[in-house]
Amino acid sequence: MNAIFFVSTNIHKYNEIKSILQNRITDLNFNFYKQNLIEIQDDKIEKIAIEKAKSAYNMVQRPIIIEDDGLFINSLNGFPGQYSSYVFRSIGNRGILRLLEGNKDRSAFFKSIIVYSNGNIAKAFSGQINGNISSTITDDGWGYDPIFIPWNTHDNNENKTFAKLNKTNKKNELSHRRIALDKFVKWFTQNNKLKKL
Ligand code: IMP
Repeated sequence: MNAIFFVSTNIHKYNEIKSILQNRITDLNFNFYKQNLIEIQDDKIEKIAIEKAKSAYNMVQRPIIIEDDGLFINSLNGFPGQYSSYVFRSIGNRGILRLLEGNKDRSAFFKSIIVYSNGNIAKAFSGQINGNISSTITDDGWGYDPIFIPWNTHDNNENKTFAKLNKTNKKNELSHRRIALDKFVKWFTQNNKLKKL
């Protein structure tokens, strides 16, 4: 049985990744290693993610996965981007809606960088999903889920936020995280000769 540790403090990310991976790779023990990782300051989240993976591996000394994400709002020149975590904690979803008041362009995208490292390599996989920022905050969900409506997912002609889509597990079928993990699964199963379901 292969073991991989997901190093993060975010249990929501772990649960989503576990749910996506368990239907895709057999013989995998996917564990949560709760640890806050120091992030370097850089404009590119890919670079931040690779550095985060190196320090996670040094800590765990076993194969690891880390994830770095951002919500990028087009009319705000990509803000909050790599500062998404801090911005969520400081102004939250209400603050984001306030920043977009009177703004016609509410388009945004989520980007995920998943990095796998086994000590010899650190390999990154990216996923992106486009959508709009809603005008109200919906119930449930975590982070920016209650204000993000992905495109092309019209369910009974109703635009649903990630928070609402998550109730029927639909978020995991199309999220930025899912897209990045699809690439990881393809690479990992080919390189580790594991069975793909
Ligand atoms: P970081 O990768 O931990 O720096 O997180 C970036 C921030 O983006 C998180 O703290 C969340 O607030 C937010 N975020 C990342 N992915 C998601 C998601 O799938 N749904 C909602 N918010 C997310």
